Amino acid sequence: MDYAALDTKAQEILRGNDRGTYTVPTFGLYPYQWNWDSAFAAWGFSTFDVDRAWVEIETLFSGQWPNGMVPHILFHQDDPGYYPGPDVWATEGKGPIPSSGITQPAVAATFARKTWERNKGKGEAHVRALFPMMKAWHAWFMAWRAVDGAIVVTHPWEAGRDNCADWDSAMAMIEPSGVGEYTRRDTSHVDASMRPTKADYDRYIWLVQRGRRLGWDDAAMAEDRPFAVADPTLTFILMRANRDLAHIAEALGEDRSEIDSWTRTLENGAETLRNPDTGVFDAINLRSGEHTGHVTSASFLCWYARLDDPRMGAELAKSFASCRYPVPSLALSSPDFDGMRYWRGPTWAIMNAMIAMGLKDMGYENEATHLRSATRDLIAEHGFAEYFHPDNGQPAGGGTFTWTAAVWLAWASPNAEGF
Ligand code: DGY
Repeated sequence: MDYAALDTKAQEILRGNDRGTYTVPTFGLYPYQWNWDSAFAAWGFSTFDVDRAWVEIETLFSGQWPNGMVPHILFHQDDPGYYPGPDVWATEGKGPIPSSGITQPAVAATFARKTWERNKGKGEAHVRALFPMMKAWHAWFMAWRAVDGAIVVTHPWEAGRDNCADWDSAMAMIEPSGVGEYTRRDTSHVDASMRPTKADYDRYIWLVQRGRRLGWDDAAMAEDRPFAVADPTLTFILMRANRDLAHIAEALGEDRSEIDSWTRTLENGAETLRNPDTGVFDAINLRSGEHTGHVTSASFLCWYARLDDPRMGAELAKSFASCRYPVPSLALSSPDFDGMRYWRGPTWAIMNAMIAMGLKDMGYENEATHLRSATRDLIAEHGFAEYFHPDNGQPAGGGTFTWTAAVWLAWASPNAEGF
């Protein structure tokens, strides 16, 4: 395998998706700046153009709302190829540039720290300027999304795992009446069998319409939430990001105590995500109070949050044994598994990178190495797709994907420095 050629190809993908000050996830399907995609893009850029990496994160925070929220999409320009665009979100007056009204997993502080580690001297000015913005975003999460210490998803897009099985019971409780006619654009770029269903989309849009009706006001939206799921993705990722932000605070000579107190709150909250019947971390539908019972790739982010857990170790071994290219976004043993449909089974390189980062940090060297080599083979054999079938590696979703290329450059490539 010509790994050097793949390194070059990955750099070309990042350059090709670069729109000057931000990177699109992929041409066509996702024509704007997405929040967590951008943080991964910065990690990728940091391997060959660290100045461009800082620009990526700084552009992301240029869209931060005064309340601290960092939107999940920044609409830097119009593009008729995407739905729902800025006219549907209607967030005018809420933030400095047109955006969506929800956020996404808080990976930015973690990858700002990683970028700084590659750019020790010059990076300090960038981190110093970003620090209060990152802290304000984390504070917003703690104020508006922490319920019993776990972080709650109020729209499936907010966790990034749009159609995962963890949302099924909560989505079924929504009656999307009055949603009206709309034209999806995603299925003109990607085969519909790889995307969420119409029933999912009706609810996605219905939830956007609710936010718009409430003027995207945090307090109003927190009342009688029609969709509220305590989620391992948002919880574990924010826990990790708080630890990285506290590390940054200390390195800058700033006070870290408030950030540490958030981490303690989330440590307690994370325990609530442990399913009492299975011992596995899953999600809780807060409207019914029930655990969702699904083993997903997000369950395995516990180590990334620095929670050690032998029971999860046993579950990870099962997941590794279940397919050629772990970690599936939903266990293959689940009746809801669908190996090509977005978050209902496919393997995602970014999840693998975060899971492996956690495993390595916690001393599980063998597992981290296994995941790295499986991800390397997956990308080397099947390309830089958005996601892949966990058993046969068939590429799915968007092609020439920014975060898959970024993960290759920063971690999966044999030439990568790794963590
Ligand atoms: C989409 O449009 O599919 C995105 O995942 C929303 O963030």
